[in-house]
Amino acid sequence: MSVSSLSRSPQGNLPKAIALHANPSVNYAEKVEETLALLKQAVSQFSPVTQASSLGAEDVVITHLINHHALNIPVFVLETGALHRETLALLERTQAHSVGAVNVFRPSTEKVIAFVKTHGQNAMYESLELRKACCQVRKLEPLAEALKGQRAWVTGLRREQSSNRAEVPLIDRSDEATKGQIKLNPLANWTWGDVWQYIAVNKVDYNPLHDQFFPSIGCAPCTRAISLGEEFRAGRWWWEDEAAKECGLHAQK
Ligand code: ADX
Ligand code: SF4
Repeated sequence: MSVSSLSRSPQGNLPKAIALHANPSVNYAEKVEETLALLKQAVSQFSPVTQASSLGAEDVVITHLINHHALNIPVFVLETGALHRETLALLERTQAHSVGAVNVFRPSTEKVIAFVKTHGQNAMYESLELRKACCQVRKLEPLAEALKGQRAWVTGLRREQSSNRAEVPLIDRSDEATKGQIKLNPLANWTWGDVWQYIAVNKVDYNPLHDQFFPSIGCAPCTRAISLGEEFRAGRWWWEDEAAKECGLHAQK
């Protein structure tokens, strides 16, 4: 799929994010092979397994591998009701072009209306408590639905993304006993350069917000572009302390 000409880099032909970031590690080819092997292992040993996709750069790489190798790993997206229009458009294109299922989980309309009625549309900026309550209704409850009956889920977490994620394992069994699922993080040791190399080489469709300096993309009210030198996740919940910056999808113990 072609990427909008509006997002081309000033130098010429390459879209901005690809021109800026595609830069493979020396062992990039091995990483791709290892990732594919882990996804195949997921199907043979941990089915039913599903991929959690925010439609960010990491997740479109994983979905491409799943489709390209016809792996039995359906994808799910938590459509919080607060995603950017660019993300929603990519969701439609992904549904149209994927070989396997792309399931969408939405929050309860009644709960969202009740939350906004009580706390207002901008409650997330008022306190950490209210921000977490919004994530609970819009993300965590739909996540619980998405994971019902699943033995494992695949995420796009990478160690490089933040200090909180520096030790993300490829196979995470820490929640298996309490929540019931194994979490697989096949890109755990990929760099940002590897992610964009894969997107460039395989012409993977991606969220055009990445061309506007949004490396990490969540809900629209809680995501902004970053400036030169800022951390990868600086644009997420930017008004909060670094340590608080997780919505609970990947809560640390
Ligand atoms: S978050 O916890 O801060 O929101 P982040 O945006 O870094 O997470 O994404 C990490 C991984 O969580 C993604 O690669 C994806 O697997 C999963 N994820 C995040 N947001 C969603 C979403 N809206 N729908 C499905 N999966 C998601
Ligand atoms: Fe609500 Fe922001 Fe959490 Fe999205 S990221 S669920 S808008 S608080």
